[in-house]
This record gives sequence, C-alpha cells and structure tokens, in this order.
Amino acid sequence: MKIGRNLPCWCGSGKKYKACHMAFDEKIARFQHAGHIVPDRKIIKTEKDIEGIKRSAVINVAVLDEIGEKIKAGMSTQEIDDIVTNTTRKMGGIPADLGYEGFPKSVCTSINDEVCHGIPSSDIILKDGDIVNVDCSTILDGYFSDSSRMFMIGDVSPEKKRLVQVTKECVEVGVSKVIPWTLMGDMGHAVHQHALDNGYSVVREIGGHGCGNAFHEDPFVSYVSKPGTEMLMVPGMVFTIEPMVNMGTDRIYCDEENGWTIYTADHLPSAQWEVEVLVTETGCEILSW
Ligand code: MF3
Ligand code: CO
Repeated sequence: MKIGRNLPCWCGSGKKYKACHMAFDEKIARFQHAGHIVPDRKIIKTEKDIEGIKRSAVINVAVLDEIGEKIKAGMSTQEIDDIVTNTTRKMGGIPADLGYEGFPKSVCTSINDEVCHGIPSSDIILKDGDIVNVDCSTILDGYFSDSSRMFMIGDVSPEKKRLVQVTKECVEVGVSKVIPWTLMGDMGHAVHQHALDNGYSVVREIGGHGCGNAFHEDPFVSYVSKPGTEMLMVPGMVFTIEPMVNMGTDRIYCDEENGWTIYTADHLPSAQWEVEVLVTETGCEILSW
C-alpha cells in the first residue's frame, strides 16, 4: 500500500510519511524482494499500541508475582485460577484465557508431563516435587499481554530443576537474538540449539505468536526453525518467546477428554517459560515475563 510522501504516516504519529516510516517501509521492501518473509503493516505496533500493551502487561506481571508468593504444596490449581481471576479483575483487566476458543478457566496450569494448556481444577493438588507452568494472559482496554513462569513445589529433583533452569536459559538465548533486521529463524534455531546441547528436545507443533492487539497474531514463532528462514524482525513487532522444552521425546499428544491439555508422549517432564517482547531499534524490550 503506497502512501504519498507528504501525507500523514500510517503509524498515527502525525508526521509526514516521508519523515516517519517511509524509509522503514522501503527497507522492508528490500528484504521482501530478496525473498524473505516480511511483516504486514498491521502487526507493527504504533506508540499508542505499545503504551496499551505495556499497561496490560503490568497486570499480567503482577498476577504472576502474586502466584509466586502464594503457590505451595497442598494448593489446588483452582486456587491459582481464583487468584488470577480476582487479581486481574481488581486491577481492571480481563483474563484472556477465559472463554478463548471455549477454554473454561482463566489461566493454564501445566504440571510435570503436561506440556501446556492444563485446565485448573479443585481436584488437582500441587505436590512436593512438582514443577508447574502458570501461563497467564491479560486483556486491558483491548490490549493483550501473555507470559508464563515455572514454579517448583517444595523439594524438586535435580533432573527437573535442571530442565526448568535450562528452559529459562533457552528464553534468554532467544531474547539475545531478537535483533531488528534479522530473521526469526536465527532466533528459533539458537533456542533449539541450547536445548539440544543440554540433551533436551523442543516441541515443534506449538510455539510463540505475535501478540498485543489480539491474543494470537502473526507470525507463528517456531523454536525448531532453521537459520536464514522465517519472518524478518523489525522495530514495533511484539511477539512471545515461549519454547516448550521436553526432557525426553519432542512428541506430544492432546487429552481426548478435555480437548486441551497437551502431554509428552513418553510422560517425561516438560518445562516452559514465556516472555512477550517488543522489537526496538537496537534489540528488544521485555514487556511481560
Ligand atoms: N497463553 C497461551 C499462549 O501462550 C494460550 C492459552 S490459550 C488457552 O499462547 F485457551 F488455553 F487458554
Ligand atoms: Co503465548
């Protein structure tokens, strides 16, 4: 879509296009002509969008902080869901998971061999030695934030502790590779390599996503991608880095009864950390963690 040089920029800055995003658009076009996948303008966030997403993320981070303070052995995952619902609402937000494609709860709680999308329940009680991912997403004024953390309950085995630690490192490696005007495949490959170097596998079918003006936006973010492939990262993109790292096989399956919960095929543990990042002129800013 071409804009006249002297017309207002599409980003809403009020500046003339030629003094705002014109050079940016031309740079993207050069990558596109060279055969790369490039972001559509609709996933490039404006200043207003970024402010909104940051306000939403304040709630998401506060909710996860509160879970961190309260989570313990003997607690049901329904209690975690209650904290998420109440804290999010008290702060003026809406839990994004609730009702999303029919998801019945406000948060995902995935324990041990559950890879993701575990459904909170008063029948599921956290036990000493469990590792649990709490994946929280918030809507505020139409802006979305999404991040998740691992929690270790009581006395956790050294093997599981190492999985949780290495998975966190995988996210840190990914963050270090969010460099504008480079490709997402390079980032995903680096994440994968760190997991492989530690003897682990990474889930292929489920990954990260653009986020901010909707829950799940383009692109799909793989952590088993090849260098030199996938979408170009440019300033203003917001997406999640959320590799699911398995102690054993990368194969997974979905719970047939509830249609949501994903398990490792070999029932060995899986871990996941998720951050939501903004690509900046020099690297990235973590918006939600
Ligand atoms: N928060 C998850 C993600 O990282 C999505 C959960 S969707 C739900 O993308 F419906 F399962 F809640
Ligand atoms: Co996500």
